[in-house]
Amino acid sequence: MALKWWQRAVFYQIYPRSFADSNGDGIGDLDGITAHLDYLNDGTERSLGIDAIWLNPINPSPNKDWGYDVSNYCGINPEFGDMASFDRLLKEAHRRGIRVIVDLVPNHTSDQHPWFVESRASKTNPKRDWYIWKTASPDKAPNNWHSQFGGPAWKLDVPSGEYYLHLFLDEQPDLNYRNPAVVEAMHDVIRFWLERGADGYRIDVVAQMMKDAAFRDNPFRTAHDPDIPWFEEGSQIPLHSTDQIEVHDVIRGFRLVADSFDDRVLVGETWPIEQERLADYLRPDELHLAFNFRFVLARYMASRFRDAIATTHRTFGPGAWPTWTLSNHDFSRHISRYSDGGDGIARARVAALMMLTLRGTPFIYYGEEIGMRDVRIPRERRRDPVGRDGCRTPMQWSRSPGAGFSTAASTWLPIGEAKEVNVAAQLDDPRSMLSFYRRLIRLRRETPALVEGSFRLQADSPADCLIYHRESPAHRLLVALNFGAEPREISSMRGRLIFDTDLARIGEASGATLKLAGNEAVIVES
Ligand code: GLC
Repeated sequence: MALKWWQRAVFYQIYPRSFADSNGDGIGDLDGITAHLDYLNDGTERSLGIDAIWLNPINPSPNKDWGYDVSNYCGINPEFGDMASFDRLLKEAHRRGIRVIVDLVPNHTSDQHPWFVESRASKTNPKRDWYIWKTASPDKAPNNWHSQFGGPAWKLDVPSGEYYLHLFLDEQPDLNYRNPAVVEAMHDVIRFWLERGADGYRIDVVAQMMKDAAFRDNPFRTAHDPDIPWFEEGSQIPLHSTDQIEVHDVIRGFRLVADSFDDRVLVGETWPIEQERLADYLRPDELHLAFNFRFVLARYMASRFRDAIATTHRTFGPGAWPTWTLSNHDFSRHISRYSDGGDGIARARVAALMMLTLRGTPFIYYGEEIGMRDVRIPRERRRDPVGRDGCRTPMQWSRSPGAGFSTAASTWLPIGEAKEVNVAAQLDDPRSMLSFYRRLIRLRRETPALVEGSFRLQADSPADCLIYHRESPAHRLLVALNFGAEPREISSMRGRLIFDTDLARIGEASGATLKLAGNEAVIVES
């Protein structure tokens, strides 16, 4: 079956506040993004060559959680521009063949959203039941649920003597999806941006939209989960506050709305309780794509990636299509994570080669294509309540003051080491990280086996290597990645190298065996 655009696409995630500031206020904005679309894809080899953009939230927000606390779902945050700037961005992106998806934050609103202002006004307000209110005694919350940002998930509203639920900040009350009026209201929001021409949505914490009907207490972990640093022994398992069977009906409803438009995509931010259940979100009438955090957060080890990839292929079945991501706005950038105990740059190239050659849709996080690192944020400049600023700093376009991001004397977050790492310096350097990404994305586009080809993990490989095969009628490819620091000899196939992490071995012949340097990856074509 012919693949859909979102199966062929390479996505690029833009954190709008940090991509490009067009009006000199120190904050990135929509016109800034529009001005840099040619960098992303101008149809030539000079540009990065991505096919679609995901924009983090652009709606009005008091910014307690930087846009994830929405106060108006159908508006544009004035810091980013207005509807006209959004329409311009869409038009200019579409003119270049770039699709644009926007962030939908349906699980909760801002406490400043008019729905919540009404809901909290009195127990008899018609919108009271739009949120999750419970009576309990003033000194004991309705159950033991924790907010994902720490502390109890219940906030006592003193005037009414009732608690409301917030799985994130106090200022992010959870909507009640058992109320059909809420479902309808969110369907209207979905229609709003699709009608304006958005190509789809990334849906925030999609698995959390439904809670246990009986609000039972959550259990606790008895052991640390090795892949997810904050899943410590003793931390709460959100067994009853996430991944409830009923959430799939809500998702099906969203999908029906999306399907009433032509060819749109829904990508979920999915944290299933069990990794095996990720595939449930990708049934034919649910999401098109779902993020795979076991892969995102895997430690830099062949075995960890192999596990994440093998579980995905084992559980997904033929209908579900994977996504592969290394970084986003919630975690330390992978180049920084991988620098712990090794050469972060070399490792980031190995991981990128993997992400862009697996079967599935890759998502690049702005700046990773130039090797941008986390920035250490001095205490007085911290903006995020839970410490995620380091991976959200301004894009480093050039070595000039303001890094080509802004002409303002001060930017909303400090700028990283732009003198060493910036777009301008890498554009004409054939060995740069940017050139590596550009060439790899182009190779992917030109090589059907990398997009639509079959996928098979090779069982026989050294423990610190990962080897897989991608095959289409016209091409047989082998991808070999050495995650170790030592050289390895692997069993390969006769052919020639068409790509490698240092862009130094292209054209070299491969025999039945092949040598890989430490932290080296290659693509062989037979
Ligand atoms: C998601 C977002 C994150 C946000 C949270 C609450 O995890 O990616 O940035 O803080 O949801 O909306």
